[in-house]
Amino acid sequence: MIIHGGAPLRGVVELSGSKNATLPIMMAAVLTDEPVVIRNVPRLRDVKTAIELLGGLGVAARWLGDHELELHARALSGHEAPYDLVKTMRASFVVLGPLLARAGRARVSTPGGCAIGARPVNLHIAGVRALGARVQMRHGYVEAHAARLIGARIWLDNPSVGATENILMAAVRARGRTVIENAAREPEVRDLARMLAAMGARIAGAGTHVIEVEGVDRLHGADHAVIPDRIEAGSLMAATVATGGDVIIRGAPAGDLEAVVAKLAEAGAEISPVADGLRIARNGPLRPIELRTLPYPGFPTDLQAQMMALLTQADGASVITETIFENRFMHAQELIRMGADIVMKGATAVVRGPSRLSGAPVMATDLRASMGLIVAGLAAENTTTVSRVYHLDRGYEALDRKLGALGARIERAADE
Ligand code: EPU
Repeated sequence: MIIHGGAPLRGVVELSGSKNATLPIMMAAVLTDEPVVIRNVPRLRDVKTAIELLGGLGVAARWLGDHELELHARALSGHEAPYDLVKTMRASFVVLGPLLARAGRARVSTPGGCAIGARPVNLHIAGVRALGARVQMRHGYVEAHAARLIGARIWLDNPSVGATENILMAAVRARGRTVIENAAREPEVRDLARMLAAMGARIAGAGTHVIEVEGVDRLHGADHAVIPDRIEAGSLMAATVATGGDVIIRGAPAGDLEAVVAKLAEAGAEISPVADGLRIARNGPLRPIELRTLPYPGFPTDLQAQMMALLTQADGASVITETIFENRFMHAQELIRMGADIVMKGATAVVRGPSRLSGAPVMATDLRASMGLIVAGLAAENTTTVSRVYHLDRGYEALDRKLGALGARIERAADE
C-alpha cells in the first residue's frame, strides 16, 4: 500500500460488518441442517478462508448479494479442520464446539503460535472436556468425541473470547444446563449469542460475566445481520485524528466504543454522536495519555497499534500497556524507523511526541499492526510503503477505497 501522507481525512465513511463477529457466526451454521442467512458480512480474506473451511465439512455457501451469505449444512461430509487452514486463520478453531455438538466428533488442527503471542487453546479444550467430550492431542490435532455433550458449570481462567464462543456453541445442543463463568463480554460474543438464539438456542446473560445455556435438541435456520465492526470504527477514528481531519463514521456503534471514545477524547479529539454514527475531528494539538488494553469493556488490544501511531503526534509522553498479548508491539520498531520516539520495556511502551514522521518503506507483521502503520503513513511526510498488505486484506474491507474517498492519497501497488 503506497501512501502519500499529510492529507487530512474528511467526509463520510460507512463501516463494514464485524470480522470477529462474522467468523464464529459462520461456524454456527454447522449446528443446523437448515440454511442460515448472514447479512452485513464483510468481504474479507478471512471470510473466504472460513467458507473454504466450512466447504470441507460439506457446508454449502452461496452469496445472495454483496454482503449476504447463505450457509447450508444439510449433511456434514467431514469433521476435520486441517492445519493448512487453521494456521492461516486461528478463528478456525471455534469450529470445534459446533462440530462436536452436531457430529459428535471433531478433528481440528491446533493453531500453533502467532506473531502477537503464544495464544494457547487450553481453555477451549478444558471447556469441551467439562461438557463431557473425550479429547486427545495427536499429530498436532485436537481429536474430540462425545456421543452427547452434557451441560456443566465452567469457570474460565481468563475471559477468552474464542473459548467463550467455542463453549457456547457446544453447549447450545448439550443435554441440560451450562453456566460459563468469567465469560468474555465482547460485543462479538453477544452477537453470536443473538444468532444462536435466532436459531432456537436458549441463552441468557451473553454480554455479562456469566452466560447460562439451556441445551436444546435441535436448532433451525435463521436470518441474522452482523453488528458493525467496532475495530474498523476505532481504526478510522485514529486515522482521522492523526491527520487532523473531520469524519462522520456511519454505523459506528457508540455503545461498543465507550473506552475508545473516552481515550480519544482525553487525547484531544472531538467526538459527537450524529444520526446513525459518530463524528470525529481534531482541531487543536493532541495531549499525551495513559492507555491499558483490557478485555471488553476495557480498551481493545485490537486498537493498540493504531493508538500508538496516533500518540506519536501528541505533545508529551504517553504510556501504553498491553495486557492481552505478550508480543504485540511489533509495529513499534517500524514506527521508530519513521521517526517515532518509542521506548519499550516488557508490556509497556512510552511514546514521546510530537514526532515529525517521515515516510519510509515499512513491513506489516499482523493485521492490526498493519493498520497502525497505515495511520502513521497517513500522518507522515512524503511516501510510506506498507508491504505484506495481505494482513490488511484479512480484516479490513476495501480499506484503500474507503480512505481514498476520505481524501487520503493511497494506492495499492500492482504486484500486491
Ligand atoms: N488464552 C489462553 N488460553 C486459551 C485462550 C486464550 O490463555 O485457551 C489467552 C490468550 O493467550 C490471550 C488471552 O487469553 O492472552 C485473550 O485471548 P482470547 O482468547 O480472548 O483471544 P482470541 O479469541 O484468540 C479474539 C480476536 C482477536 C482479539 C482477541 C482479544 C477473533 C477471531 N479474534 O481472539 O482479534 O485480539 O479476541 O480481544 O475474534 C484481530 O482481529 O486482529 C485479533 C487478533
